[in-house]
Amino acid sequence: MMFNNKLDVNSKIVLITGATSGIGFATSKLLINLGCSLFVVGRNRVKLEELETLGKGKVVSIKADLRNFEDIKMIVENISIIDGFVHSAGVVNSIPLQFINRESLERERSLNYDAFLFLTQTLVKKKKINSNGSIVSLASIAAHFGIIGSSLYCGNKAALIATSKVFAKELASKNIRVNTISPGIVRTEMVNNAEGQHLTKEALVLDEQKYPLGYGEPDDVAYCITFLLSDASKWMTGQDIILDGGRTCYV
Ligand SMILES: NC(=O)c1ccc[n+]([C@@H]2O[C@H](COP(=O)([O-])OP(=O)(O)OC[C@H]3O[C@@H](n4cnc5c(N)ncnc54)[C@H](OP(=O)(O)O)[C@@H]3O)[C@@H](O)[C@H]2O)c1
Repeated sequence: MMFNNKLDVNSKIVLITGATSGIGFATSKLLINLGCSLFVVGRNRVKLEELETLGKGKVVSIKADLRNFEDIKMIVENISIIDGFVHSAGVVNSIPLQFINRESLERERSLNYDAFLFLTQTLVKKKKINSNGSIVSLASIAAHFGIIGSSLYCGNKAALIATSKVFAKELASKNIRVNTISPGIVRTEMVNNAEGQHLTKEALVLDEQKYPLGYGEPDDVAYCITFLLSDASKWMTGQDIILDGGRTCYV
């Protein structure tokens, strides 16, 4: 008898935002290697072309600015029906309470939260997600315990988790699952940029000591995303997976 491997994702068609860097790029490469067909979204033309080359005809790239609602509509118009949607695009800024204004709030929220909300809404309205589909977005452990100076980031990630639980209930009748992953620090461009801007190398070395398994690599998250896209997780919805090398066990 043929063994039905539910971890197998080779027939899946997946839309990935933030595909041009870090976790999204690692996930795109992993899914290409596992045989998926992809629609990859980002602004970095060079990285988009790199993924198209790697995908050998199974990857379609879409250059789009997710802060722009017209671009969100354009993405959905240009894709086929998909089995999975991964929202990895995101940005972190250090903005202490005294410096928050309407503009900084809008800039962070439009990418970290609004883009996920309106992409999901448009995909559902246009019936672009197959029954048995899976939606995964990247939250953060920052949503669970807060980072000084990053209330906008923490708030948006918490909103992503809460909204995904609601979507999980609203979309269950269509057999579409919705989950989030909350990573601890993963070595990506986001962390490299933070190192220059608001974190010193010394602070990062000290912080990593609070991670029993050290900081993560993009692949560590890519494999977890792949599990959530696969049928192996078909009974899982409305959940947030904390993936942090044990950081949140550390008091
Ligand atoms: N790295 C970590 O330690 C960590 C920890 C917890 C959670 N996360 C979350 O995980 C996700 C991925 O993080 P990462 O570390 O992989 O980040 P990253 O390397 O900085 O990548 C960010 C991605 O977002 C895309 N992006 C940014 N602005 C955009 C815009 N206006 N329109 C379209 N795309 C845009 C970028 O595309 P272009 O460069 O092409 O514009 C890039 O592909 C984020 O949501 C982040 O908050 C990361």
